[in-house]
Amino acid sequence: MNKQAVQKVKLFCGGMQSRFLENKDLFIEVSGSYQSGTVSYPFSILFEGETYVLTFQKETIRGAFDTVFSHLIEQANLYDILTLTYADRTGRLMLRADNKNVSTKSDNQVAEVSKGEEKHIISPKAANKLLRVLDFVSENGKLKNTHVRKFTQAEHFIELLVPYLKKLPQDREITVYDLACGKSYLSFFLNFYLCDVMKRRCRIIGVDIREDVVEASKKIRDELKYYNMDFYCADILEFTPPTRMDVAISLHACDVATDFAIAVAVNNGAQIAAIAPCCHKEFLDTIKTEEMPYFTENGIFKKRFSDLLTDIYRVKTLEEQGYAVVATEFVSPLETPKNLLILAEKTKNASPKGEATRAIKRAFHVDPILDKLIF
Ligand SMILES: C[S@@+](CC[C@H](N)C(=O)[O-])C[C@H]1O[C@@H](n2cnc3c(N)ncnc32)[C@H](O)[C@@H]1O
Repeated sequence: MNKQAVQKVKLFCGGMQSRFLENKDLFIEVSGSYQSGTVSYPFSILFEGETYVLTFQKETIRGAFDTVFSHLIEQANLYDILTLTYADRTGRLMLRADNKNVSTKSDNQVAEVSKGEEKHIISPKAANKLLRVLDFVSENGKLKNTHVRKFTQAEHFIELLVPYLKKLPQDREITVYDLACGKSYLSFFLNFYLCDVMKRRCRIIGVDIREDVVEASKKIRDELKYYNMDFYCADILEFTPPTRMDVAISLHACDVATDFAIAVAVNNGAQIAAIAPCCHKEFLDTIKTEEMPYFTENGIFKKRFSDLLTDIYRVKTLEEQGYAVVATEFVSPLETPKNLLILAEKTKNASPKGEATRAIKRAFHVDPILDKLIF
């Protein structure tokens, strides 16, 4: 290839470098080939740790951007044609160069749902690799019966959250914390939706007290190369978030761990909190009401009323903290009885009065832990 063509390839590589630096965690690979006559010589560049790795003609070159791409550009002098594709999770940049012409193209491949998948918001076809790594699909690529429920829960949770996410600033990365993330299915699906469907720059951080699930999540992250995700083993109450918390999500954090998640969201100024509570035990020992003793006389009514009151108390607390709250069922009760989703968006400053929460405590003789966690 002549000097002018190689010079243009160099410029294109500079553009790739800027895009990489902006979107490092979303990088997939650079691939392409040189061609001489009818013979083509493929190459690829991956990013491992903090090093670029160029594989070409049984040779492997490791190093910083300049080292690896200088080599790539030098080689271009020796061949007739160079084709090159830079791929990250937001799209692709493509180049084809020969002595006569250097053309570039870019595309933005959105992982849309295709025909026959309309009931989904995450396309099982487009998300096939993710589903395989999570072990949600069988050999034939179909969702396993045992995993349909988890997938549906994650999809519906995300579907209800998306309108709130769209209101967040578009010009910067957003950070989502999954509090009591477990094996982090929800986070992995949300990451897919944000990066591959919405083309949104994001960082997702999962926190769980169990080391085994945190290690399992890290393994899945590495296999998927989802480097915009991090996982920490910690009690969510003792965890210091390393970044701003734009969004806090929590799916089925056991008993009062849901209150921990709400408190962590409020104390860290999360703009959005999406919380699906799990089992409730906290009020059972003390709940009673002089006005309406019938509510708590019968065991099962006492249990159900106590569950309801716990979630009402959570919603009222969030409102008093300046959040506009919607409580809704995110899946059918046939999927899971734990189907309540509390969606909260910070719209104003906290009100110091706390009238509703004080009235609940007085009327029902409860002493919610949530009160002691918010500061
Ligand atoms: C029922 S699992 C739900 C996991 C995940 N969110 C999901 O929906 O698959 C509850 C998780 O909460 C975690 N957990 C409970 N208390 C916690 C705490 N104080 N800090 C961090 N994680 C906690 C448990 O270790 C467990 O992984």
